[in-house]
Amino acid sequence: MQEMSRRNKQFTDSVIRRMTRIALDAGAINLAQGFPDFDPPKAMLDRLAEVSHEGPHQYPITMGAPNFRAALARKCGRFMGRTLNPDTEIVVTIGSTEAMVDTIFALTNPGDKIIMFSPYFENYHAQAIMADCEAVFVPLVPPEFHFDPEVLEDAFRQGAKAILICNPSNPSGKVFTYDELKLIADLCIKYDVYAIMDEVYEHIIYDNNRHTYMNSLPGMWERTVSCSSLSKTYSVTGWRLGYAIAPEPLMERIKQYHDFNTVGAPSPLMEAAVVGLDMPDSYYEEFGAHYAHMKKLFTDGLKNIGIPFTDPQGAYFVLANISPYLKKGQSDVEFCEEMARKVGVACVPGTSFFRENVSDIVRVHFAKKDETLYDALDRLSHIKEKMA
Ligand SMILES: Cc1ncc(COP(=O)(O)O)c(C=O)c1O
Repeated sequence: MQEMSRRNKQFTDSVIRRMTRIALDAGAINLAQGFPDFDPPKAMLDRLAEVSHEGPHQYPITMGAPNFRAALARKCGRFMGRTLNPDTEIVVTIGSTEAMVDTIFALTNPGDKIIMFSPYFENYHAQAIMADCEAVFVPLVPPEFHFDPEVLEDAFRQGAKAILICNPSNPSGKVFTYDELKLIADLCIKYDVYAIMDEVYEHIIYDNNRHTYMNSLPGMWERTVSCSSLSKTYSVTGWRLGYAIAPEPLMERIKQYHDFNTVGAPSPLMEAAVVGLDMPDSYYEEFGAHYAHMKKLFTDGLKNIGIPFTDPQGAYFVLANISPYLKKGQSDVEFCEEMARKVGVACVPGTSFFRENVSDIVRVHFAKKDETLYDALDRLSHIKEKMA
């Protein structure tokens, strides 16, 4: 038999999604893969019920249903502070995941370097490898997850084609400040580098932190692709509706990859989601307040149990320190599997996010109903004896 692709010898299946399968098998509460167990907005569900009879049910326009793209232009333009052209600057994809892949393929050539921060969302490295690109990692140093500007500029000096930034960040919870983004933007302009932004957590921000869109910085619209989706903002991770926003010359290329990769996003779901995109500012305020509530409930509980963790500025994850519970010689992957089975709570081993040598960190998410979080905290309160 002929040798199969050498590319995917460089990555395994997703550890996050593997932990979901282990959670199901073990009957554990899944705080590993980040998705809510509460309902999407009622207006979207009601509209979906209507659409199930009215249609559309056939192939959509490849770039996304016109009314959905128009609604995206209204909603995203409002938050980004610019007028977006739904025909030339937006493409609808299968989640932000596809938007990222299309963008990486559209902007790079085999052998190109892509800068990414570590810890990083595990999709990115695999996506870079799929495009035959090389990842150049720059550490975000805990507990504040600051980066060293010198180390970052060194990465730019290596001749990178693009920098990929998750803002707000999964898994660190970092929200990049305006000044940090400006520093990165200046480097992008100086070294002629594209910015690929993953902004799926743009509306999940805590306390006094603010989300700044990279494409709103001076000189950055021309070289930035903003990838995001409805998954997190409207609690519909299973609808697989995402999008990329970019200036026309970049978008033309991204659209080509989208066209041949997936043909289009699900037409009934786009139709049902328009009502969500048209919701007023109060929706995002209530949504943010709900996440602040879940974060407080969960982190107060972790404090009471005595599990140390990093407090996120955005997104819905904490990085918890498991060193008091790790057995000698046990890897974090083994720990997470044992914990799912014995404690009944699934989380993700830190080694799937960090390039640095970390062995005692796990990622836990709190996008869950109060009762699920109380149940998880109750189970976690027995972690010491169960993992002994
Ligand atoms: C940072 C980040 N980007 C992208 C995704 C995937 O988003 P989508 O459902 O839009 O494909 C996730 C999902 O957990 C994520 O955490």
